[in-house]
Amino acid sequence: MAISAWILVSCLLLFFSPASATDSTNNPADQLVAVINSNRTAHKSSVLFDNPGLGCIALQYIQAYQGQCDEVGGNKKPSDSSFADTFAPNCGVEAQTLAPITGRLLACQSSYVSPDQAFSDILIKNARSLQILYDKNHTQVGAAVRGTDGGAPYFWCVLFSGGKTNSTFVLEGGVAKTVRPGCFSGNNDDCSGSARLGVGLWQMVVGVLIAIACAVGL
Ligand SMILES: *[C@@H]1O[C@H](CO)[C@@H](O)[C@H](O)[C@H]1NC(C)=O
Ligand SMILES: *[C@@H]1O[C@H](CO)[C@@H](O)[C@H](O)[C@H]1NC(C)=O
Ligand SMILES: *[C@@H]1O[C@H](CO)[C@@H](O)[C@H](O)[C@H]1NC(C)=O
Repeated sequence: MAISAWILVSCLLLFFSPASATDSTNNPADQLVAVINSNRTAHKSSVLFDNPGLGCIALQYIQAYQGQCDEVGGNKKPSDSSFADTFAPNCGVEAQTLAPITGRLLACQSSYVSPDQAFSDILIKNARSLQILYDKNHTQVGAAVRGTDGGAPYFWCVLFSGGKTNSTFVLEGGVAKTVRPGCFSGNNDDCSGSARLGVGLWQMVVGVLIAIACAVGL
C-alpha cells in the first residue's frame, strides 16, 4: 500500500511536473540563462534572447576542450574557424547564419554545482567577467553544461552574440541535432536526466525504475 502510494506520487510528479511542458525548469543550461537575464535586468541591461543554435554551439565549444579543465583558464581556445568547420555542422546550424561572438564565459571545476552557484561562484569571478556579462553589444545568449566521461570535471559555457535574434544561428529545419552528453539552452528540452549531463548513473537508474513502475502501475 505504502509502495503503491509512493509509485503513484512518483508517476504524478513525473507526468505532471510543470518542467516537462516548458522551457528552463528542468534544464540547467536554461536555468543559467534565467539567472543571467535576471541579473542583467537588475542591472538595467536588456534581456537576452535564448538562442538554441547558439546554445548548441556553446556545448560544442565545451567539447572542444576534451575534458581538459586546466586549459580553460589559459589562452587556449577553439579557433574561430571551428565555428564554421565543426560546431555549426554538428549542431545543424546553417553556416551562413553564424554571427560574431561578442563575449564568452567559460568555467570548469571538479564538482557539480547548481546553475546559480555556477554563475556567481565560478563564471563571474572578477570585474572583467562582469563587464562581459553587462556588455551592451549582446542581443542573445546560448549556454551549455557538460560533464566528462560520465563525471567530473564539469564545464559551463556561455556564449553571447550581437547578431539579429531571428536570423542568426538558424537551425536547419528548426531543430538542433541531438548532441549528447550535455545540456544546452533554448531548445525547450528537459535535460534533468543526469545521464545526459554526464553526472552519474544512479539517477538514471532511479529514473528507469520509476518509469518501469509507472508503466506497470498505469
Ligand atoms: C561593441 O560595439 C562597439 C561599437 O560597435 C565596438 O567598438 C566594440 O568593439 C564592441 N564590443 C565587443 C565586445 O564586441
Ligand atoms: C549579479 O551578479 C553579480 C556576480 O555574481 C553579483 O555580484 C550581483 O550582486 C548580482 N546582481 C544582482 C542584482 O543580483
Ligand atoms: C522573424 O522573422 C520572420 C521573417 O522575417 C518574421 O515573420 C517573424 O515575425 C520574426 N519573428 C520575430 C520574433 O522577430
